[in-house]
Amino acid sequence: MKNQKFSGLDNLIVAFDSALKNLHESDHNRGARDYPAADQPEAPLSVQQKQEIAALMRVNHAGEIAAQALYKAQSLTADSDELKQDMMQSADEEIDHLDWCEARLRELDDHPSYLQPLWYAGSFGIGLIAGSFGDKWNLGFLAETEYQVVRHLDKHLLQIPADDTRTRAILEQMRTDELKHATTAEHAGANELPKPIKRVMSVISKVMTKTAYRI
Ligand SMILES: [Fe+2]
Ligand SMILES: [Fe+2]
Repeated sequence: MKNQKFSGLDNLIVAFDSALKNLHESDHNRGARDYPAADQPEAPLSVQQKQEIAALMRVNHAGEIAAQALYKAQSLTADSDELKQDMMQSADEEIDHLDWCEARLRELDDHPSYLQPLWYAGSFGIGLIAGSFGDKWNLGFLAETEYQVVRHLDKHLLQIPADDTRTRAILEQMRTDELKHATTAEHAGANELPKPIKRVMSVISKVMTKTAYRI
């Protein structure tokens, strides 16, 4: 385990302050990029289809809350200043995803997961643990997380109706970004995680996915 470089409580308070802003800000001017669905027409969806798509977007929104927490925690525990900066920049990019998922949920007359604070706190803790093993494992955890998100988005893209081009445009842009985050982490020197760790991560993400789908 490496030495604790962050000054404990102060940084944790700053990170949680940022978390609360993420969870409670309702404006949509935080992210830097345009809404990918903006130019896509709304498909004639049935009530049931809207509910199913919204449930998937609620899962993706919960995942983006978790991404915020992971990146913030990992930036606090990173050894190198360069990695800290990269992590904070990636967290900013993930804010776009958070906003897009939230916007689509609103368009579908639905709501984000009621368990957002739980997703944030749990992921923050996992990020601190991953970061405590040093930068190469920190990056390895990040890369594996992003690859799992890419596979998960692929599954969602198979489930979303073909004519729901608004949702598809959002998920496709997110997929592109997550893949970039994964490969950037690899190029920065990520260690490949042992298979049992990957399996544990996959199980945790399944629990979150199944829960956020409903609440
Ligand atoms: Fe994301
Ligand atoms: Fe990402």
